[in-house]
Amino acid sequence: MIDVEQIRKDFLVYTKQPELAYLDSAASSLKVKSAIDEVDYYYHNLGANVHRGAYQLAYETTNLYEEARKTVASFINADEEEVVFTRGTTSSLNTIANAYREILEPGDEIITSELEHHSSLIPWMITAKKTGANLVYIPLTEEGRITIEAFKKVFTKKTRVVALTHVSNVLGYLTPIKEITKIAHQSNAIVVLDAAQSAPHMKLDVKDLDVDFMAFSGHKMFGPSGIGVLYGKKHLFNYLEPFEYGGEMVDEVDKDQATWKENPFRFEAGTPIISGAIGLAAAIRYIESIGQEQMHNHTEALHQYTLKKLKEIPGLIIYNESAENPVITFNIKGIHPHDIATILDQYHVCVRAGHHCAQLVSKFLGVNSTLRASMHIYNNQKDCNVFIESIIAAKQFFEGF
Ligand SMILES: Cc1ncc(COP(=O)(O)O)c(C=O)c1O
Repeated sequence: MIDVEQIRKDFLVYTKQPELAYLDSAASSLKVKSAIDEVDYYYHNLGANVHRGAYQLAYETTNLYEEARKTVASFINADEEEVVFTRGTTSSLNTIANAYREILEPGDEIITSELEHHSSLIPWMITAKKTGANLVYIPLTEEGRITIEAFKKVFTKKTRVVALTHVSNVLGYLTPIKEITKIAHQSNAIVVLDAAQSAPHMKLDVKDLDVDFMAFSGHKMFGPSGIGVLYGKKHLFNYLEPFEYGGEMVDEVDKDQATWKENPFRFEAGTPIISGAIGLAAAIRYIESIGQEQMHNHTEALHQYTLKKLKEIPGLIIYNESAENPVITFNIKGIHPHDIATILDQYHVCVRAGHHCAQLVSKFLGVNSTLRASMHIYNNQKDCNVFIESIIAAKQFFEGF
C-alpha cells in the first residue's frame, strides 16, 4: 500500500501548496525531491562537461552521466549503448522519423493511428511527404482503440514503419504493441513506440516488447524537463543517419568528409543534457524504490473511485471508461472545457482542457476539446473528492446562468 502522506514529503510543491489537487500528471508529473537534488548536486559541485576533460571533475561528471545511462538501460531492460539521451519524446521521435527520410522510398507505407500525439504523428507525416511514402491509419474501434485485427487489415508487404503510441495521452488506452510488433517484423518493418505515457505507469521491457525504437520523457515520470530517452536496437541505430552533427559524435574528420562514432554517441552531438540525465536516473531510482506494481494499484484504485463518482453527475460525457492508464477524459454538455478548467483552478484543482496535442483524437470523438484528469502516486481520495465537488460547483455556476 502506498502511504500518500509519506509520498507527498518527497514532492516539495506540497509543502508550499498543501491544498493542491494536481490531476494533470499526463501532461507533466510533479518533480521528486531526489531528482531535483541530483540536478542541484551537478550544478553546485561539478559543472564540468562529459567525455572531454582529463581532470577529476570531468571524470566524476562523466561517471555520473554514464551511470545514469546504465540506470535507464536497466529500467527498460536495454543495453547501455542502446540508450540515447535526448531533449524528450518529441526530439527522440523526430530523430528517427528524420533518419528514415534517407531510407524510405515512394510507395512505402508508414502505419500510424489517429490516437497519436502530434509528436508521434507529424514527424512521420513530413517523412511521408518528403519521401513519397504513404501514411496509413489503423481503423480505430468504435471506442477508439487500436486492435491487432485492425492492424492486420492495413499491414501489407509495403509496410516499412509502424509508428504508434503505447498508451494514448487522451484516452489512456493501451496498444497491443507486442503482438503488433511480431506481425510487423514478419516483413521487416520497424516499430517505433511512443512510450511517453506508458513509461511513467508500467514496467517496460524492450526485449520482451521487441520494438525497434522507443521514446519517453523525464518530466512525466517525476524527473526534470528537457531530458528524454531514445532507445534503439544496436544494429539499427548504427546504420541510421544522425539528426545533428557536431562535437563528440564524430570519429574521424577530414577536410571533405567525416565518419561517425557508434551509438550512443552517434546521436548525442554537442554537450548533452548532463544535469537532466542525472536527474532522470534519480527519478527512476525513486520509481523503483516504490515499485511499479504498487504505483499501479494505487492510481488504479483512485481512477476507479473517481470514475464511479463522476458517472453519478448528470450531463457528463466520459469518453474512456475502460482506460488502462489513470486518465479520465470527459466533457460537460453545453459548457466549454476551458471554462470548467478555470473554475476548477479556483478549487486548486489542476486538470487539462483542450485537444491535448492530439487533434485527431478530438476529431475522432467529434468534439473540439475535452477535459482530462490524470492521476499519479501523490494523489489521494481527497484530491478526487475536491475534483468532483468542483465539477459540480462549475456545473451549477454555468447552468445557473
Ligand atoms: C503520448 C505522448 N507522446 C509524446 C509526447 C511529447 O512529449 P514531450 O513534450 O515530453 O516531448 C507526449 C506529451 O504530452 C505524450 O503524451
